[in-house]
Amino acid sequence: MIKKIEQIHWDLKKFIANGQEDIETFKVKYLGKKGKITELFKEFKTLPSREKKYVGAELNRLKNECSEIIFQNKYKLSKNEESLEDLTKSGKPYIFGARHPISLVKNKIINIFNQIGFTSYESPEIEDDWHNFTALNIPYYHPARNMQDTFFIEKDPDILLRTHTSSVQIRYMEKHSPPIRILSSGRVYRNEAISPRSHQMFHQIEGLYVDTKVSFSDLKQMIQYFTNSLFGSSRIRLRPSYFPFTVPSAEVDVYCELKTKTGWLEIMGCGMVNTQVFRNVDIDPDKFSGFAFGMGIERIALFLYKIGDLRLFFENDIRFLRQFESIH
Ligand code: DAH
Repeated sequence: MIKKIEQIHWDLKKFIANGQEDIETFKVKYLGKKGKITELFKEFKTLPSREKKYVGAELNRLKNECSEIIFQNKYKLSKNEESLEDLTKSGKPYIFGARHPISLVKNKIINIFNQIGFTSYESPEIEDDWHNFTALNIPYYHPARNMQDTFFIEKDPDILLRTHTSSVQIRYMEKHSPPIRILSSGRVYRNEAISPRSHQMFHQIEGLYVDTKVSFSDLKQMIQYFTNSLFGSSRIRLRPSYFPFTVPSAEVDVYCELKTKTGWLEIMGCGMVNTQVFRNVDIDPDKFSGFAFGMGIERIALFLYKIGDLRLFFENDIRFLRQFESIH
């Protein structure tokens, strides 16, 4: 009997399963009702008792060995399956961060103006009275100050949160002489009631172009180039308007046809830089002329992405922001 045990022991060692079925047949072959090891146990009962102790121990060892081999083969198989599966599986989804719609629109606009030589310039959100109002030809008692409700930080001298990005024009012209071609984007603040259409903090982009012989028709051409680039081929309309820092001034509308709305959408204010503004920053108005423009980013983003409520931009609701994941 010991010989038989030894033989089976060597047979067991050779076993390598290629599949689940191999393991099943192996199990039946050795441990099944008529399996080789089961048969040996039956034979064991007939042994004389003096042999039983030794043979019994060997037989038990053989049985354990068989179970161990089955276990190891099962484990190997499952590992193989796993690695096979890994190769064929599509990759795990990788979650990319989303760009905020305001940044998306801002970057689009910056790119459009970069193409025609405008470079970016940053200026502070906390401003003094000179840069936000006075140098822009909005003197203390000028009614235009009432157009914007200002958040003051300090009074006399006045320190405030800038109410528009036009302050950047002054900051830039104080330090640089023409030719000037700059674009500046950033947050601005006004003490307004929060509603679907207005907020106390929003974003503007300001542009300034100063050189010799810059004309109103240059401004109009540039606006047409800009709206065509942003909205596709588009019709524009310039309405006469008033801003203390530009003469003449205009407001620009783009004609849009949407399922929900067809009509003119106001997108920016603009005009020829007022000679008084040039004088305030020591630029000779007889030598140079220029145009300036300013637009609200939220308004354009609302339109481009068909969003109905401006407050969504600032609430950081992940369900809203995730919708922009795939847009770059
Ligand atoms: N600063 C103006 C506003 O906040 C927008 C504006 C109008 C900017 C005309 C300009 C401009 O540069 O020329 O409403």
